[in-house]
Amino acid sequence: MSKVAGLKFKMKPEKKEAPAANARKGPDIRLPHLKLWIGGKWKEAVHGRTFKTIDPATGEVITRVAEGTEEDIDLAARRARKAFDSGPWPKMKASERARILHRIAALIRENYEELASLETLDTGKPIQNSRRIDVPSSAEAFEYYAGWCDKLTGETLPAHPEFFSYTLREPLGVIGAITPWNFPLSIAAQKIAPALAAGNTVVLKPAEQTPLSALRLAEITEEAGLPAGVLNVVPGFGPVAGAALVRHPEVDAVSFTGEYLTGREIMKNAALTLKKLSFELGGKSANIIFADADMDNAARFACDGIFFNQGEVCCAGSRLFVEEKIKKNFTARLLQCAQKWRPGDPFDPATEMGALVSQEQFDKVLKYIEIGRQEGAKLLLDGRNPKMPQGKAPGTKSKGFFIGPTVFSGVLPQMRLAQEEIFGPVLSQIAFGDFEEVIRNANQTIYGLAAAVWTKDIQKAHRAARALKAGTVWINGYGNFDHAVPFGGYKMSGNTREGGIHTFDFYTQIKSVWVRL
Ligand code: NAI
Ligand code: MG
Repeated sequence: MSKVAGLKFKMKPEKKEAPAANARKGPDIRLPHLKLWIGGKWKEAVHGRTFKTIDPATGEVITRVAEGTEEDIDLAARRARKAFDSGPWPKMKASERARILHRIAALIRENYEELASLETLDTGKPIQNSRRIDVPSSAEAFEYYAGWCDKLTGETLPAHPEFFSYTLREPLGVIGAITPWNFPLSIAAQKIAPALAAGNTVVLKPAEQTPLSALRLAEITEEAGLPAGVLNVVPGFGPVAGAALVRHPEVDAVSFTGEYLTGREIMKNAALTLKKLSFELGGKSANIIFADADMDNAARFACDGIFFNQGEVCCAGSRLFVEEKIKKNFTARLLQCAQKWRPGDPFDPATEMGALVSQEQFDKVLKYIEIGRQEGAKLLLDGRNPKMPQGKAPGTKSKGFFIGPTVFSGVLPQMRLAQEEIFGPVLSQIAFGDFEEVIRNANQTIYGLAAAVWTKDIQKAHRAARALKAGTVWINGYGNFDHAVPFGGYKMSGNTREGGIHTFDFYTQIKSVWVRL
């Protein structure tokens, strides 16, 4: 028995009687109607409205969630302000803050199976990924940033002999966090944990497609002893609740992950109050395979890089640059690997590829497959209408939002297929002749989030790492991530770094103090 939003819901063990041939694996989750978490209490939305959250594997409604609008955001922002200005959190002994963050991490681990199930139910991602990646990474965020609480220091400065000059590193105040639907819990944790570690308070607006895990996290933070009002979670729609958070005068800064066009909108709205902004936006990351690469590994990771999480990953290796002379051999290996990625019931522990998050995202990916064909790229592997193990989406008549691995070759660097973020399992293979050509083409995009290089030549690898305009470069690997390592974008992929000490460039500010001696 678990609790969400103050109401009990059941995660029954699997039924004893034999399930129907197409029945879903996994827990029977019954969720209550969920509310907003404001000032340490569950609240209905001021206007009393609710919205549906959908299970992408079946297209069915999971439950209804209170829909926050401007008035609810205002309430949450004022509660967060009060918690910052007169509550215990920013003034608390740093090691005590750390203890609470550690307790949050421990509770995430204790409720690991439930959180993994919620995440899979809401996003359509495979349960094995929620278990292996989303939930552990969320716990690690709190563990990692707990360690920073009592290590954020100022400096003493050799300015003038008659003065003692020093800096204080202070929290910013109220942080607005706006998160996307692809890693709902772990991206929320990646923002909340450092914000809290530095002594800030937070209003989180989760993505409207996937509000469940953030609400459960709110409940966990209360159980861990986080004072009321320090974390507030207000689900709602971007242009209403999100925009209200960005405009709110009591919110000091906004940390956003999502689409660059939304980032642009946020920047415009933030101009009214000149808010500090942290953006982690989209990408069209280049994965570069040189002729001397370990081809088996490169092919395997090229698939991991684009099919993991159904390709709904900001740093997905969506542009695969392959050196001309190995193209034929490499493509054969690539297709062999790609065909192993079969969509299936997200709750089946063997499933590696789940459903796309929504009808909208499903339609968008289908549209890009059509665009690619019209542009003249060659469709080597077509993921449309994948064969589901049960012939249809698990346990229902609906098809669910499934698209299988899709591979184009003969893509030219300027095609829309190679320039626009698809956010789905669609790989564009682009051939190249030499080092200069591939670096030039790899950099010719509005994005600059990540890149990878495959070669056994150590000089070539490091030269490429320097030349690529991307916030992260993997050499002979793809998709490694750790809270200790900064992550963020060049160009229109972002403007700050999350991970490591650099995170606190955003979540803190510096005060200079001059003392006459
Ligand atoms: P989005 O950028 O619209 O949504 C992300 C978050 O921003 C959500 O919480 C949303 O409610 C909020 N939001 C939307 N409009 C807002 C506004 N005017 N002011 C404040 N907040 C606002 O992304 P969306 O529509 O869910 O996905 C569209 C595309 O974005 C995807 O197809 C994909 O290409 C890209 N995307 C990229 C992500 C990344 O990590 N780089 C994550 C999610 C989506
Ligand atoms: Mg959903």
